[in-house]
Amino acid sequence: MEREGGRPAAVVAVVTERRFAQRYREYLEKEKLLNRQHRVKTMPDGTVALPVLGEALREQHLRELRNRVAPGSTCALAQLLDPVPSKKAQSCSPAQRLCLQVSRWVESQGVTWSAALEADLPRSWQRHGNLLLLSEDCFKAEQWKNLEPELWETVASALGVQRLAKRGRVSPDGTRTPAVTLLLGDDGWVEHVDNGIRYNFDITQCMFSFGNITEKLRVASLPCVGQVLVDLYAGIGYFTLPFLVHAAAAFVHACEWNPHAVVALRKNLELNGVLDRCQIHFGDNRKLKLSNIADRVNLGLIPSSEEGWPIACQVLRKDAGGILHIHQNVESSPGKILQPPRSSEMEEEHWPHPQQIITNHRGNGATRDSRRKGLSVATKPEWHRWAESAETRIAALLQQVHGKAWKTQILHIQLVKSYAPHVDHIVLDLECRPCPLVG
Ligand SMILES: C[S@@+](CC[C@H](N)C(=O)[O-])C[C@H]1O[C@@H](n2cnc3c(N)ncnc32)[C@H](O)[C@@H]1O
Repeated sequence: MEREGGRPAAVVAVVTERRFAQRYREYLEKEKLLNRQHRVKTMPDGTVALPVLGEALREQHLRELRNRVAPGSTCALAQLLDPVPSKKAQSCSPAQRLCLQVSRWVESQGVTWSAALEADLPRSWQRHGNLLLLSEDCFKAEQWKNLEPELWETVASALGVQRLAKRGRVSPDGTRTPAVTLLLGDDGWVEHVDNGIRYNFDITQCMFSFGNITEKLRVASLPCVGQVLVDLYAGIGYFTLPFLVHAAAAFVHACEWNPHAVVALRKNLELNGVLDRCQIHFGDNRKLKLSNIADRVNLGLIPSSEEGWPIACQVLRKDAGGILHIHQNVESSPGKILQPPRSSEMEEEHWPHPQQIITNHRGNGATRDSRRKGLSVATKPEWHRWAESAETRIAALLQQVHGKAWKTQILHIQLVKSYAPHVDHIVLDLECRPCPLVG
């Protein structure tokens, strides 16, 4: 006898002799009374139990079966305990399976299954190995409370995992800590392997954005050989690691103020064999003591990394400057797309999504207008406006921090992901070089 969800469940069945079972089945199917979620069962006494949709079954149906469909048959109603799911039920979608198994288990606990409970089941989740992270918009009804903690075992079993966690809102306190609660299991540590890099982290303590994969891959392909990088918002090493492992950066200074993320970052540097090429700076990056060392600075914070711009300017090499990778959420109005130029102006760009990038090929000193003409593919005017205002402000900051003029140039704008309707998470690659002293 099969048990699903860790608890017995029962369904209503019509029981008759084996020789009448086929005729019963045909009738129940025709009347849409057969419960297709469970298998027909042969009982120990040789009779056959056909699971039926109890709510729709009427006395008149039983009379029909007895008198017209199979005259002389015995027709009894019974509770079929621990019904075995049919092949159809087993091949249904995870959401359907979840609904089926949770509803059966809930009823086995004496609670009436309702449309409200069904609507409160999760529709989306993230799978992290054997841990399933549920979205925040489910299991909100008060009734679930009385069914915990066994409820979580049923949910986990229905979805084939051992651990369950539920998401809340990402905390607005700057640590980007997700309010994730562990519902089932001993800890929230999970592992992801992306592009050959192992990332371990505690899902209840650190954030992980699946949507940043394009940027992570792009970072891995940047020409960083021999370069020193500062990652101002290192987190668990989402960008620090590809800079070190794939882009062959000589050294990364990784700043992070969330102690849990720092634990994960150290572990990931070790796991990926690059601990010796990274220094972790635990604390608020705005108080960083470093200056004049970086060929590149990564500013991977959204909605904006603006608070980190002064320190980014401070750490850039005074003699040679470098490149800033500045993340930002930019709002745009629907429908305004800048058209791409003729194909001859398009860059030989290996980067995956041509609609998601603009790249400038003109040398230093290009005017803003000429730069805009040099931008290679369809993009949004708001991205340009934001990039140009960021460029102006950073040029002023560089002058202020280093006490001399710098040239800045928009090299590239990359769409990372659509963050929300009409809000795009983009990255601006801004080249910053000190102007040679005149005379
Ligand atoms: C977007 S999250 C993590 C990004 C990271 N690149 C990743 O995905 O793993 C930004 C990180 O910056 C950290 N952070 C935010 N403000 C900070 C500050 N002023 N100093 C140091 N770390 C900061 C947060 O704790 C968080 O881990």
